[in-house]
Amino acid sequence: MAETNPTDTIETALANLRDSFLPRFRAADTEQALRDENAKILGKKGELTAILKQLGRAPAESRKAIGEKVNAFKQEVEAGFGSCLKNLQRLEREAELSAPPFDLTLPGRAPVLAGHKHPVAMVREDVVAIFRQLGFAVFDGPEIEHEENNFTRLGFPPDHPATDMQDSFWTTSGKLLRTHTSNIQIRAMTTIEPPMAFIAPGTVYRRDDDATHSPQFHQIEAFLVDRNVTLAHLKGVLAEFAERLYGPGTPVRLRPSYFPFVEPGAEVDIGCVFCKQANQTRAGCNICKHTGWIEILGCGLIHPVVFENCGIDPEQWSGFALGMGLERIAMLRYGIPNIKLLFENDPRMLAQF
Ligand code: PHE
Repeated sequence: MAETNPTDTIETALANLRDSFLPRFRAADTEQALRDENAKILGKKGELTAILKQLGRAPAESRKAIGEKVNAFKQEVEAGFGSCLKNLQRLEREAELSAPPFDLTLPGRAPVLAGHKHPVAMVREDVVAIFRQLGFAVFDGPEIEHEENNFTRLGFPPDHPATDMQDSFWTTSGKLLRTHTSNIQIRAMTTIEPPMAFIAPGTVYRRDDDATHSPQFHQIEAFLVDRNVTLAHLKGVLAEFAERLYGPGTPVRLRPSYFPFVEPGAEVDIGCVFCKQANQTRAGCNICKHTGWIEILGCGLIHPVVFENCGIDPEQWSGFALGMGLERIAMLRYGIPNIKLLFENDPRMLAQF
């Protein structure tokens, strides 16, 4: 058998490739398939490279002619690739245009998890709104407070348990995280002249931690100083507040109690909002512990010593103060059994309000 001439072999292989590449390109029905086919021919490990590897065996005088053919072939392939690509893109565009159009009138999809107001924030907004309607301003104050404003001028004796390291959070510089919003009473009375009527919503801290107590919680203080303020004014405001927060006819009662900065002092109960058994002989529910009443806040008339500690003449001025815990009010309003649920902020729990 006659030995094959390398020049002929290369030229035959090139001719075969030239005959087959266009049908192969045309058979590709996606852009990716077309690009793959192109790479199989012109790529580094492609069929053309394989053919050119034999070039070294061809006589030097025929290499130039082969090189020219190869270049011409490459241009043909590139041109074929370009026109097939254009054709595919045109087909794709036509398919898009003839597909059913978007319905721009379809309603949008709502996000799965929408944000919610926190139950404590909702209660705070309601309580603030009620007192604003009654004519109270809104005051703010610091959470890191001097002992003076948090305890001393409010008439706490130095050995009062609340001042103990065990009960309050003290900083190394002798200040503490305020244990109540009553510090705002002192800040107000030492900076503005009576008469005054304000509320002070805020965050407070105590070393307490169980199902109904959290080391950080929220209070709202209401405070009023004027001439000839009596317990009747306080009771009037309380009755109005209870009706506006819990509905008309909500019963209110005051039970004598002790706070160092008021005299007399009282705790305020409202008729149980769950069993509504206040003033009745029938037993109530578990939430009011079968008494028919639920405690919601502490209050009293401002102690003359507190006025004196702030440079206000108790012969000329009198007033009342009341303070409530917002978590407690939120738990009662929404029937939330454990205060921890209010601080974990599980979206599944918040979404229920
Ligand atoms: N500061 C008191 C507390 O935190 C509540 C209170 C405020 C009581 C105003 C009387 C008057 O328990």
